[in-house]
Amino acid sequence: WPSFVAALALGYLLGTIPFGVIFTRLAGAGDLRAIGSGNIGATNVLRTGRKGLAAATLIFDALKGTAAVLIAAHLWVDEQPLIAGLGAFLGHLWPIWLKFKGGKGVATYIGVLAGLAWPAALAFCLIWLAVAALSKYSSLAALVASIATPSLLIFFGYDDEVHLFVGMTALLWWMHRANISRLRAGKESRIGAAAPAAP
Ligand code: G3P
Repeated sequence: WPSFVAALALGYLLGTIPFGVIFTRLAGAGDLRAIGSGNIGATNVLRTGRKGLAAATLIFDALKGTAAVLIAAHLWVDEQPLIAGLGAFLGHLWPIWLKFKGGKGVATYIGVLAGLAWPAALAFCLIWLAVAALSKYSSLAALVASIATPSLLIFFGYDDEVHLFVGMTALLWWMHRANISRLRAGKESRIGAAAPAAP
């Protein structure tokens, strides 16, 4: 048990690093939480017009999830990597440093998936790209790719990971509830377009 708590804490702490907020501030582009949707992820960084910053946010928010899994896999031999991955995802969603107001978890979800089941992560990215290319909605792409993920894991022969990603998908959908309402109302902003009103 102590190792499970340690894995959760390790993952959580890594997950709380808000790279979008940090990069945007370092680049002198202001406080990300006051821009666009107010979300701390790469989609919102893109609304500052800085594509490089958005790409860096996507990569680093993903890498913290992958790092949590790989570090735990190095330290322990059981289910701790899954717990650490969950911790990173929760840390991104509810970071203590930002008064528990974090992001929606897409990049970190991909990073955790990459660390635990890279073929499924690759398939996730292909689905995301296809839906994003067709619809120009970042949120819709993530919703579709994430709902497919448990099936992708089963397809690629993973087992314990399936339960973890059923839970993480449910959380990811919950975090996107405002996006889902906007999609249903035809009011979601498309990739590269002006932002929806900040909440
Ligand atoms: O899944 C994409 C999500 O991050 C959307 O972000 O800023 O449009 O709410 P945002």
